[in-house]
Parts: sequence; structure tokens; C-alpha cells
Amino acid sequence: MNERTPKRAVVTAATGGIGMETALGLARQGWDVTVVARDEGRGGAAVARIDEAAGRRAGRFVRADLSSLAETRRIGERLAGEGPLDLLVNNVGGMWTDRRESPEGIEASIVLNHLSPRVLTEVLLDALAAAAPSRVVNVTSSAIAAAQTVFDDAEPPGPHYGLAVTGRAKLAHLAYSMELAGRLGPRGVTVLAADPGAAATDNAAQMTIEILPPALRPHWEQIQKGVSAPVASAATGPLAAATDPALEGRTGLVIGPTGTVDDTLLAFVTPELTEAVRAWTAGLMATAAQRS
Ligand SMILES: NC(=O)c1ccc[n+]([C@@H]2O[C@H](COP(=O)([O-])OP(=O)(O)OC[C@H]3O[C@@H](n4cnc5c(N)ncnc54)[C@H](OP(=O)(O)O)[C@@H]3O)[C@@H](O)[C@H]2O)c1
Repeated sequence: MNERTPKRAVVTAATGGIGMETALGLARQGWDVTVVARDEGRGGAAVARIDEAAGRRAGRFVRADLSSLAETRRIGERLAGEGPLDLLVNNVGGMWTDRRESPEGIEASIVLNHLSPRVLTEVLLDALAAAAPSRVVNVTSSAIAAAQTVFDDAEPPGPHYGLAVTGRAKLAHLAYSMELAGRLGPRGVTVLAADPGAAATDNAAQMTIEILPPALRPHWEQIQKGVSAPVASAATGPLAAATDPALEGRTGLVIGPTGTVDDTLLAFVTPELTEAVRAWTAGLMATAAQRS
């Protein structure tokens, strides 16, 4: 690692859930942590907890609605202007039973799980490279296993099932992450995906059985048991991806819920899929640019 201390981390959606636990874990390990989320009140409370965990002033809240790509870009440019960045944890994500739209009129789980973290990462690339060796951690999900892998249209064909749509967005982001790993390796930025596993967060609490495609509904009880797991333990994967010295330079891996390398989800990322995701993403970004 480089010599600058304390190291600077940006963690998105970290005023609650897995992001908050990841931010607290980083603070305990001596990092300065910038939390990006929407709510000022939750932001203030998160900063107080981060400061307490660090035993010093280590937290900062930056307000942004990351479902707006224009706002994500603005915040990214502001953070990029602050100099070298050692760690970006793209934790923001979401899965809902009902279909929602972003301010730019794109299905919201595609935006929060793929387009928005992609915009933030791209804007911060030079700041990350300036801090090399540095890392990008993209929080992924086993929902990928339920993804519809068709990328012809903005949304998959047929009825909206939150798990399948979110799984598809996470798959797109995993394909992007692997591409990014190849691109950033020579610049000293390690790119890792981290699967936190299921946990009892606010997002998990609002899910109903209708989130599942009918074929998966017999598994609802089992899935519900999974999302009753403690949130703190779900930060194990993201924290290992962010800080484990043994992962330095081992770019393009997925870290599983136990904090070890787990390539299960990478089986879904084929060269054909990566190519399809690239074209699909470009189309969505063009649509968003027209509408913002
Ligand atoms: N929970 C699980 O079982 C599970 C399983 C696998 C993967 N994951 C992944 O883990 C990550 C975190 O999930 P979670 O369950 O902890 O989510 P969560 O409970 O919804 O996270 C809450 C955090 O997200 C922030 N947030 C929500 N919408 C936002 C927006 N538009 N802009 C900025 N911040 C926003 C909230 O802050 P504000 O309200 O202040 O904005 C809060 O800090 C996601 O990528 C998710 O896909 C979760």
C-alpha cells in the first residue's frame, strides 16, 4: 500500500444496511470514510457512528440521490476534485417488488445496480489511479443466478420480477467490473466484486413473494430465512475485498460472503454476454443523456 495516511474511502449508500457496516469496519481499520446517500439526518447519524468507531473524526456525509445519473456525475466530479482516492465501494443497489423508474425514466434497479455505480467509477478513475495501489469494490449479489440474460431491450421481456431484473442489472455490472479490471490493472487499481450474501436490511424487509418469478416461489420461505441474517456479518465480503492485503493486485475476482475468493458468479460472464452488455449500456446511457 502507499504511504499516505489516513487512506480515503468513498462508500455509497452507507447510512444504513451493508454499506453502513462496511463504513464502520473501514473506520475501525483507520480509514477516512465519505458516505454518499440521500438523507441528511441518516447521514449525520452515520458520521457520528463512524467517528465513534474510529475514535477520531473520520466520517463525512455527502448528499446525493444516486438514482439520478446527472447527480451521480456531479458528485463524482466533486469527489474527483479532492485528489487521490484509495478506495471506492460501490455499495448502492436495490431490488423492489414493484417496477420503479429513475428521474431519467429508466427502470430504477438497472440504474442503481449498474448505471449509477458505473458513472461514479468512470468519473473517479484518475483519482483512484493517482492513489495506486488502490481499489474499486463493486457489491454484487447471487440474484445473478436468477437473471434473464437477454440484453436486446432496456428491460427483459415478460412481466417484471424484481429478483430477475435486479439479477440482470447485477450481472451487467459484474461484466463491466471484469472489463474494468483489465483496463485498470496497468494503472495499479485492483477491481473486485464482493457478494455480501443475504442480510436483514431495509431493502430486504420490503420484499414480497411477488419479487420472485413463479418458478422460484416454492423457495420463498428459504429465501426469507436468508434475509434474516445479521447485517454486520454481510460486510465481511466487501470489507475483505476492500482491505485484505492478500488481494492486492489480484484484480478481476469475486469475493464471497465469507471474505474469500469465490468464482461461482463469474461463470455467468461470457465474452458474448460482455459484448451484449457493452452495447446495451451504451444505449441506456444515450437515453439518459437525452433526458437529463
Ligand atoms: N440485503 C441483502 O440481502 C443483499 C444481498 C445481496 C446483495 N446485496 C447488495 O448489497 C448492497 C446494499 O444493500 P442493502 O440491502 O444494505 O440496501 P439498503 O438497506 O437499501 O441500503 C440502505 C442504504 O442505501 C441508501 N440509498 C438508497 N437509495 C439511495 C439512492 N437513490 N441514492 C443514494 N443512496 C441510497 C440509503 O440511504 P438514504 O436513504 O439516506 O439515501 C441507505 O444508506 C446493494 O448493492 C445490494 O444489492 C444485498
